Amino acid sequence: MPRPTPTEITFREWTGSDIVGVAELFLVAPDDGTLYQFPEAKKHHQEMLSKFIRYLKSELFNRKTLTRIADLRTESGEKIVGFSQWHQRVKDPKGSDTYMPIEVFRPLSLQDLINWPLMALEATYKQLYSWLHQEANLGLQRNPKKSEAIRAGRNRSPQLEKSIPCFQLSGLAVHPDHQGFGIATKLVRWGMDQAKAKGVPVITGGEESGLKFYQNALGFKRIRESEYWIDPEGNNIDREEVEKGNDLWKKVNGGVSGSDAIWCPDGIEVDLKGLTPGS
Ligand SMILES: CC(C)(COP(=O)(O)OP(=O)(O)OC[C@H]1O[C@@H](n2cnc3c(N)ncnc32)[C@H](O)[C@@H]1OP(=O)(O)O)[C@@H](O)C(=O)NCCC(=O)NCCS
Repeated sequence: MPRPTPTEITFREWTGSDIVGVAELFLVAPDDGTLYQFPEAKKHHQEMLSKFIRYLKSELFNRKTLTRIADLRTESGEKIVGFSQWHQRVKDPKGSDTYMPIEVFRPLSLQDLINWPLMALEATYKQLYSWLHQEANLGLQRNPKKSEAIRAGRNRSPQLEKSIPCFQLSGLAVHPDHQGFGIATKLVRWGMDQAKAKGVPVITGGEESGLKFYQNALGFKRIRESEYWIDPEGNNIDREEVEKGNDLWKKVNGGVSGSDAIWCPDGIEVDLKGLTPGS
């Protein structure tokens, strides 16, 4: 059992003013895939931060994304210590699958509408600045071979979330100083409860460390057909080699591994389209 979540931690939906705090979290609690693709990420703090901020700004005004925040209340104010990001996939009235905003997904707040032109202006300014001043690029390099390997690994996956109505968990992080207090459990259980009420599964994808958490703490099952293992050079390792003991995919050896994972509410039958949920 994780230690009890301190009462100073509260949970809510995000607003525009949370963007920098969430981007900071991406940096201090990166997933294995980010570290694999950007080995120097921590050395290029500012550049990585700007990258995350640009991504989050686009998500804020996408009403099909919902971000939950864990806030720590201190004497000096509030600090964001965790977040989870959600999408919902539903059948639209014509019967085809699509991402849809749902009633638990908030409409834009007045504050967001006030912030929007300011943020758009700032983003445009930053873009212009980096075009005009190449030195604004501080040297953050994506390792192209490793990025391509991850992309290919994920694309080999059957992408179950694209074929069945579900809740999709697309991002999760908790500040290292506050891990082990059940914060991630609460952030994910929120979506599991929503999914249960709708009678649909929760689907997520991730790398080894996150997957262990989903499996051990929350009862998710890996989708066997979506698993991938990649060595430190970006080469794919197949299941047979892994079973024979090739462990170059392990994070300690510089590799990465991941898969999709699913959680089904009790009593809900889900057509997994022939896919095999593992342990
Ligand atoms: C994974 C992560 C979100 C967990 O956050 P957290 O708030 O510490 O999780 P909780 O306190 O709710 O943990 C609940 C249980 O899961 C366990 N757990 C947490 N992280 C784990 C991990 N990486 N591997 C195995 N078990 C883990 C905890 O030990 C605890 O177990 P216990 O009940 O036996 O004590 C956090 O470690 C993190 O931000 N990691 C970096 C980003 C990341 O990997 N995100 C997932 C992307 S796929």
